[in-house]
Amino acid sequence: MKGHVRSNWSNAVLICRKCSKKLDGGFGPDGDERLAKALRRHLKLKKGRKAAAGIVEVNCLGICPKGAVTVVDGAHSRDWLLVRPGADPDDLARELHLAAEEEAPA
Ligand code: FES
Repeated sequence: MKGHVRSNWSNAVLICRKCSKKLDGGFGPDGDERLAKALRRHLKLKKGRKAAAGIVEVNCLGICPKGAVTVVDGAHSRDWLLVRPGADPDDLARELHLAAEEEAPA
């Protein structure tokens, strides 16, 4: 049996939900948003498979850094990021390969 579901995701980014909860915000213009939400809003990404990229909160990834959030870039899964509160969203989008599609001509 073979099944497929198409998505519009150019990349998938996994963000640790537990790290995000422990920080209780830390991102967004007022520093009160969780990383996934702040990143989605900054890049004007919708939720679900119709979005241009997937930003998904997942369970603990086993790193559990103090004062940071563990993030996996699906395109470069061998190099995980530990993102500290207040990280620049544009830098982060570039590092996570989420920005290129935004700037590419349609
Ligand atoms: S709590 Fe985030 S990696 Fe464990």
